[in-house]
Amino acid sequence: MRIVVLASGRGSNLDALLRAERSGELASRIVGVVSDKPAAAALDIARVAQVPAIALDPREYPDRPGYDQALFTRIAQLDPDLIVLAGFMRILDAAAFAPWLGRLINIHPSLLPRYPGLHTHRRALLAGDREHGASVHFVSAELDGGPLIAQVRMPILAGDTESTLAERLLPLEHRLLAASVSLIASRRLRWTSEGVQLDGTALATPLQLGEALHLTR
Ligand code: GRF
Repeated sequence: MRIVVLASGRGSNLDALLRAERSGELASRIVGVVSDKPAAAALDIARVAQVPAIALDPREYPDRPGYDQALFTRIAQLDPDLIVLAGFMRILDAAAFAPWLGRLINIHPSLLPRYPGLHTHRRALLAGDREHGASVHFVSAELDGGPLIAQVRMPILAGDTESTLAERLLPLEHRLLAASVSLIASRRLRWTSEGVQLDGTALATPLQLGEALHLTR
């Protein structure tokens, strides 16, 4: 599969995907990285990996629909089979990505449907949750609300802060994303009119990243 990654910041999830590609885990090629932030570290990571790094700055477009249209036109030129939102911090217009439904996934740092949107670590702490995690899902018109593919869970410990949660979760996110992309790239997992299917049968609940860092039903 040809994969395009969208990222706004540091790019550690992009880096994890590039490493998975190099190790042969992905059965696919990352053919471009697109960012809405011209200074994003993710673009530097792409350049070092000799992957086309494309910055599209929203300030250069008259409005949101204009930007989103330019973004998906540019992405289409890269001819991807799958688009991965890996820390892409912009809300996209559903009409702009409608042609890509089923080929567009996102990683989100919470156990969705809990805490769509921002500040997920803070919200889990404030709610007194005993468990936190991350989710990979197909993107739909609802913010952070599309069908779930896989999750990773971890306990919230006494004394945890936003930053300790973020720090402990991040390496798990990396594994979760690479393993999820690998299942899609090998065409074992897809979103059909009957929901998310793995190996031809419906996924009633999201896959879980287990202790061995593999996804299980
Ligand atoms: C990750 O926590 C991801 O789940 C969220 O944004 C963060 C991106 O981090 N959507 P990075 O840029 O991949 O390092």
